[in-house]
Amino acid sequence: MLGRVNHVAIAVPNLAAAVTSYRDTLGATVSAAQALPEHGVTVVFVELANTKVELLEPLGDGSPITAFLEKNPSGGMHHICYEVSDIVAARDHLVQAGARVLGTGEPKTGAHGKQVLFLHPKDFSGTLIELEQA
Ligand code: CO
Repeated sequence: MLGRVNHVAIAVPNLAAAVTSYRDTLGATVSAAQALPEHGVTVVFVELANTKVELLEPLGDGSPITAFLEKNPSGGMHHICYEVSDIVAARDHLVQAGARVLGTGEPKTGAHGKQVLFLHPKDFSGTLIELEQA
């Protein structure tokens, strides 16, 4: 079911500072910031030869990454995103297997304009998983 790793995401307390360190210290190409109010985050993507790293900063009240940053004040690895060829079929298979899909269980539009879902970290070795329609 799982395809390629689309990105690894790191939650950060200060997106501008994280962009500076990735762009200027690590010498990476970093995309422009994109606000995703539906997801409660502002994101940039670090573009790498084989994948991407997503840097996430809270946006607005009740951001889903606020509690994570309270526990990890300097930031930390937040989720890994895998591509799937059919997100609805993947969701149905996972629900039938007893996995918990977060939110309403319906895919939302993610940062790449594609459908995404998140799976409960307790069902997958303590790691939040994002699935993205390839
Ligand atoms: Co993501």
